[in-house]
Amino acid sequence: MPGIQKTPEGKACLNVGCGGVYFPEWTNCDLLPSRQVVGHDLREPLPWDAVVFDAVYSSHVLEHLLQAAGRELLAEQFRVLKPGGVCRVVVPDLEEICRLYLQHLETACETSDEDSLRRYRWAVIELLDQMVREETGGELRQLLNRGDVDEAQARQQSGDAYRGLKGEPVKLESSRADAKDAPMELEADFGAKMARRWAKWKLKLTTGDGQDPRRSGEVHRWMYDRLSLTQLLEEVGFEDCAVKCFDESAIPDWDKYNLDVSRHGNFPRKPDSLYVEGYKPG
Ligand SMILES: C[S@@+](CC[C@H](N)C(=O)[O-])C[C@H]1O[C@@H](n2cnc3c(N)ncnc32)[C@H](O)[C@@H]1O
Repeated sequence: MPGIQKTPEGKACLNVGCGGVYFPEWTNCDLLPSRQVVGHDLREPLPWDAVVFDAVYSSHVLEHLLQAAGRELLAEQFRVLKPGGVCRVVVPDLEEICRLYLQHLETACETSDEDSLRRYRWAVIELLDQMVREETGGELRQLLNRGDVDEAQARQQSGDAYRGLKGEPVKLESSRADAKDAPMELEADFGAKMARRWAKWKLKLTTGDGQDPRRSGEVHRWMYDRLSLTQLLEEVGFEDCAVKCFDESAIPDWDKYNLDVSRHGNFPRKPDSLYVEGYKPG
């Protein structure tokens, strides 16, 4: 069993599918191992004993798994939590993304000016691209390469990834590791470089050249809204499941960790997100 880190307050917190955003005093896991990240394929049972963590967090991971595998992962998160422990799941918010799409569709139909059409095209890409793309980065990368984006919309919807791409200064300094390569994250959300490394490391999963986003794990396999995610958490045993704000959580010492806050100010790191928490019955 991989080691379990403890926070200075003595809590054991697990970040599942952490990518490049994690705290060293938490236990972190992702496909690619590193000094502070346990390498683990989340389609397999978690490599820890039952009832060992006080909190489990995952952000923008569940949607990368097929529905059945996502359910299994949540059941695993339930298993490793101590009674009374909290599980926070963050995913792209299907409801909000659909609302924005409808808004931009209506405006574009009414006005047909180039700015509205540009915002409409981004909203369509936001909704569909990561589920259907056949090349790393998909339509989003092409749009960015062409510079054919509405700055305010890109900043509003892509959050820290876009701010990093634009080189905006970081205001919130902490011990949190954040992906240094924001453009990579924005281009692919599970970028080309990462996909290549992962393809080498997980040969059994990649019979192709590692660039196929369907094989590399870049694509989204499902999406969730406040109803489906809450129901899923309840189905695997969590109770008191509820939608939270980006800066509100029952995770111990959340004010210190605040994993969903931007490093550029007091707003969400990934603005298109839905945050749901539930507790393992005590
Ligand atoms: C969009 S990134 C999110 C990273 C980070 N949690 C965040 O909020 O910025 C998705 C993460 O899920 C991880 N992931 C996707 N499929 C996985 C799998 N089968 N096993 C382990 N990790 C996986 C990827 O490696 C990647 O780091």
